[in-house]
Amino acid sequence: MTPISLTTPRLLLRPWRDDDVEAFAAMFDDPAVMEFLRPADRATIEAIVGRVHAHFDRHGFGWWAAELRKTGAFIGFIGLATIPFEAHFTPAVEIGWRLASAYWGQGYATEGARASLEAAFTRLGLDDIVSITVPANARSCRVMERIGMTRDPNGDFDHPRLAEGDPLRRHLLYRINRAQWQQGMASR
Ligand SMILES: CC(C)(COP(=O)(O)OP(=O)(O)OC[C@H]1O[C@@H](n2cnc3c(N)ncnc32)[C@H](O)[C@@H]1OP(=O)(O)O)[C@@H](O)C(=O)NCCC(=O)NCCS
Repeated sequence: MTPISLTTPRLLLRPWRDDDVEAFAAMFDDPAVMEFLRPADRATIEAIVGRVHAHFDRHGFGWWAAELRKTGAFIGFIGLATIPFEAHFTPAVEIGWRLASAYWGQGYATEGARASLEAAFTRLGLDDIVSITVPANARSCRVMERIGMTRDPNGDFDHPRLAEGDPLRRHLLYRINRAQWQQGMASR
């Protein structure tokens, strides 16, 4: 499938280029970025990027590389992906984001996430989108809430790919469906 790209006032969300990998790998060395994420060696990072490419090929959307239109800088990823494990809410498409910390606090994640949601509910014809995070990741929860998602009170789950006792295992589940998104758009 031909991958789509999205444009916002400040961002280009596009499929990844080979030269994005260095900047992405550098994010794994930043303790701020990694606070709630699992570490990865170079081979694992390249495997992650390989899966991102494969997802674009299969679905036409994915974790878009987020590029600043003004400078062309790769600042991280924002986008949509099918949840790759089984849980009580799967199959599902997730919205997610990860930015280099130099670019936090400027609304880029929210801007890109809004464009991703719009694409999900219009161009891609999806009906429901979820987002997951650990309870301590307040910045990520704030992005979810700013884009109109709400926490599913019955949604908390243990991530099946993390071992019992892993402090990152417990996750929250946020949701939004097309009707809620349309309502939010109408009231903005
Ligand atoms: C999660 C993450 C993307 C959030 O980044 P962020 O910079 O807080 O989010 P945004 O880009 O939407 O920016 C919003 C912040 O910028 C501020 N801001 C400044 N200018 C803004 C603008 N023009 N528009 C909107 N917000 C603006 C907002 O007030 C907000 O700050 P606040 O939350 O302290 O009120 C980032 O912390 C990250 O990459 N973390 C590491 C990876 C990670 O944990 N990913 C999620 C895994 S579940």
